[in-house]
Amino acid sequence: MTDLLAGPEILPQERRLVTELPGPRSRALMERRMAAVSSGVGGTLPVFVERAGGGVVVDVDGNSLIDLGSGIAVVSVGNAAPKVVTAVQEQVAAFTHTCFMVTPYEGYVAVCEELARVTPGDHAKKSALFNSGAEAVENAVKIARHATGRQAVVVFDHGYHGRTNLTMALTAKNMPYKHGFGPFAPEVYRVPMSYPFRDGLSGAEAASRALALVESQVGAANVAAVLIEPIQGEGGFVVPARGFLPAVAEWCRQAGAVFVADEIQTGFCRTGDWFACDAEGVVPDLITTAKGIAGGLPLAAVTGRAGMMDAVHTGGLGGTYGGNPVACAAALASIETMRELDLAGAARAIEATMVPRLRALQERSGVIGDVRGRGAMIAVEIVRPGTTEPDADLTGRIARACHAQGVVVLTAGTFGNVLRFLPPLVIGQELLTEALDVLDAAFTEVLGL
Ligand SMILES: Cc1ncc(COP(=O)(O)O)c(C=O)c1O
Repeated sequence: MTDLLAGPEILPQERRLVTELPGPRSRALMERRMAAVSSGVGGTLPVFVERAGGGVVVDVDGNSLIDLGSGIAVVSVGNAAPKVVTAVQEQVAAFTHTCFMVTPYEGYVAVCEELARVTPGDHAKKSALFNSGAEAVENAVKIARHATGRQAVVVFDHGYHGRTNLTMALTAKNMPYKHGFGPFAPEVYRVPMSYPFRDGLSGAEAASRALALVESQVGAANVAAVLIEPIQGEGGFVVPARGFLPAVAEWCRQAGAVFVADEIQTGFCRTGDWFACDAEGVVPDLITTAKGIAGGLPLAAVTGRAGMMDAVHTGGLGGTYGGNPVACAAALASIETMRELDLAGAARAIEATMVPRLRALQERSGVIGDVRGRGAMIAVEIVRPGTTEPDADLTGRIARACHAQGVVVLTAGTFGNVLRFLPPLVIGQELLTEALDVLDAAFTEVLGL
């Protein structure tokens, strides 16, 4: 796999622990962090990073950790991916910012052209660029309201859409995202998601349940948009039963509502296709993207039907930094890397390696209720043996045992009981296998197997 990462300064693709974790330098930096950084900002691992590349993160003490988090699904092309580094260096030396709304530049237009090519559907599309996922979601709602002249936005249980005021309202989980931060934006209605492990419903049944509530409690004629993650991210990698997404999309078409797919976590090859909607041939009216789009630089987008994207008055969309030229250069290099290395195929290969290992662990451990996900977006849901009762405490202990052995894993889920894996799509097979060995050993250690 190292040849895929060919570049002048590729880090050794290995797990290497030279101190306990965190080491002395990380501990010293943690003290400075405690004194200077708001404790409102969370933290998963107490190690500070010095370098990162491909599938590893190297800390300030010289420990090399295997990365199964990708900075929360961002560095799909690998950290400091060679093409991204070169593109960013060239752009930053040429110009760093003019504001696209003042004096435009080609990179922004080229990213919008690429978005029209790679997102689902072959209809005419246009895009607008922003800085963060939450900002893209906010703007998708603005566009949908303008295009329909309606106000209501329908979202789903377990959904996550960001931390701004409107996106907090759209997000389901109270702690830590919403607690004490209200009042929240109005005209947001939440209905049940399809969650096969917990509801046992078919896609059609789950869609009927959700849409009947929309019709009775909101009224189809009031719905501006239905906003959904085709596979939920922070909610615990909940994959709706087959047929659920197409049924929701069809309902939107009939109701004249905008079907918005939030592909901020699932997009850009993560699930083994360019977008998760592709798996069922679902074509959203609007799609929000961020994270994997630009190899780690902040960039987000709303892409959608050209007429809908033009429904907003000129000047109604934008922002000082949206579509910053350096981020656009990074996005173009990332997309080129995805094509060149067939990273959608790489994501499918990651699934083929991970899922059998996780199913074996499910058999052996007795605490994994569900193994799910698609491509390189895979999770296990941890429960008390023989039940579906969530075990968040055990989940946290297993995650910490992985961290202590130099493997970055993340947790998720409404009940805090999901271990999720989001490796960079360029991770080498050996490194991935070693990470799974460490995970296996963590279960053995924590459960005393
Ligand atoms: C599906 C989804 N939507 C929106 C967001 C918010 O993105 P950002 O953190 O860039 O604002 C996230 C972030 O995790 C996400 O996973």
